[in-house]
Amino acid sequence: MSDAVKVGFVPLSVAPRGILVVFCDEGLKFGAATRKALGSAADLVGKAAATSRFKGKSGSMLDILAPQGLKVSRLLVIGVGKVSSLKSSDYLKFGGAAASKLAPGSNAMTIIAELPDEAIKTEQAVAVASGVRLRAYRFDRYKTKKKDDEQGVLRADVAVADVAGARKAFGPAGHVVDGVIMARDLVNEPPNVLHPPEFARRATQLRKLGVHVEVLDVRAMTRLGMGALLGVAQGSAHPGRTVIMRWNGGKRGETPIAFVGKGVCFDTGGISIKPAGSMEDMKGDMGGAACVVGLMHALAARKARVNAVGAIGLVENMPDGNAQRPGDIVTSMSGQTIEIINTDAEGRLVLADLLWYVAKKIKPKCMIDLATLTGAIMVALGTEHAGIFSNNEELADRLTQAGLETGERVWRLPLGPEYDKLIDSQFADMKNTGGRHGGSITAAQFLQRFVDDTPWAHIDIAGTAMGAPKSDINQSWGSGYGVRLLDRLVADHYEKK
Ligand code: BES
Ligand code: MN
Ligand code: ZN
Repeated sequence: MSDAVKVGFVPLSVAPRGILVVFCDEGLKFGAATRKALGSAADLVGKAAATSRFKGKSGSMLDILAPQGLKVSRLLVIGVGKVSSLKSSDYLKFGGAAASKLAPGSNAMTIIAELPDEAIKTEQAVAVASGVRLRAYRFDRYKTKKKDDEQGVLRADVAVADVAGARKAFGPAGHVVDGVIMARDLVNEPPNVLHPPEFARRATQLRKLGVHVEVLDVRAMTRLGMGALLGVAQGSAHPGRTVIMRWNGGKRGETPIAFVGKGVCFDTGGISIKPAGSMEDMKGDMGGAACVVGLMHALAARKARVNAVGAIGLVENMPDGNAQRPGDIVTSMSGQTIEIINTDAEGRLVLADLLWYVAKKIKPKCMIDLATLTGAIMVALGTEHAGIFSNNEELADRLTQAGLETGERVWRLPLGPEYDKLIDSQFADMKNTGGRHGGSITAAQFLQRFVDDTPWAHIDIAGTAMGAPKSDINQSWGSGYGVRLLDRLVADHYEKK
């Protein structure tokens, strides 16, 4: 893990270095420590604000170079809008906005974590610090010639009221950021490097944190009867793998919560091959598995008081003499048979065996799968929400709430027997596609046939895991979507306090 920025905490009274970042509300009001730091330069800010019509609106910034009367290279005033309507995810964005100005020319930054009237709470200051790290992330492992502004480690200090408290809280929060970065790295890696065995090897590194990691190879999966997953894997020169990760931070013997990830390391479509345009994006078709690994890292590193299982199915979907064909019928681990209509609907085949394995062998209290499953989810929801499907109201509500808190938002879509009919097959128990309409729903119906009565939610992250527009807290192609969402879900509902 390579961080482009080192983040620390200092007292509010510290003399700022490099770039000074301060916050103000819609009334252009500052807090007491901020006013003190600005001193006579407050006048300058007032004039600059008037000239540029800066009013402190949320998302706006006033950027003053070489501010007279201050010993800093640059003064950045970030508008937060109405303080009373701020959400916890807004603080991440403030940190991200600040970090957007970090550059080697002025390689230090002091962010005064204070809003008008008061120092912001420790948890929120920590979110600012997390936002800085998330924003500064870049994936440049394969660039041999780095530009000037891509070199060196930068430093950002967040000035807070309670330095010790913030440092302590940034321990666990920092582990969650590490998990997000790990997921982004995996999604960004090229598919010649990150094939199924290599992905499995990287997952075994979680052992260093005390995670129990079991890797199932083709022989083990054959013994288990995972014919649906293996049918996808058989066209590739790289053999498939299933990885089961267990973090036991909760009470001994307590039923775990489970997370399941689609890990298609590259999706050509197989014999139903995809068109060439943007096919390179299909290196990100393991975004679900990347999220599960990043999440397991976060939970284990911050020693979450929970028993959690992560299960990922790793395959490469290739056309080949040995690849599966449309018309093939495979037998899943559940015993149910599947007629392959389109080899490009491979993710649900991988998940069918994984979900069944987890439901029957782990028997979790609930399971949540993440998958870059359908292009149709982008047609429905764009890139702002992931789609969720669930057989359990409570789980769906909890995910929705965690989405609002973290900014990794989800939107629930329906399931129902009428949709389920669309995947009945004339030759087998079901077929792997349901026709043109409601593509994300029929995919979810397919998965539901493999969960039995386990409380379950499916998150379709095809629009959010990769290629989403750049944001305040992510400039990279892979977003690491889902790590913060599910870490929050666990923290809010499944951890012993
Ligand atoms: N991995 C794709 C879905 C996808 C598309 C993810 C674009 C991210 C960006 C999935 O395996 C797929 O090919 N789905 C097909 C299903 C169809 C054949 C029923 C799709 O969405 O077109
Ligand atoms: Mn596909
Ligand atoms: Zn796919």
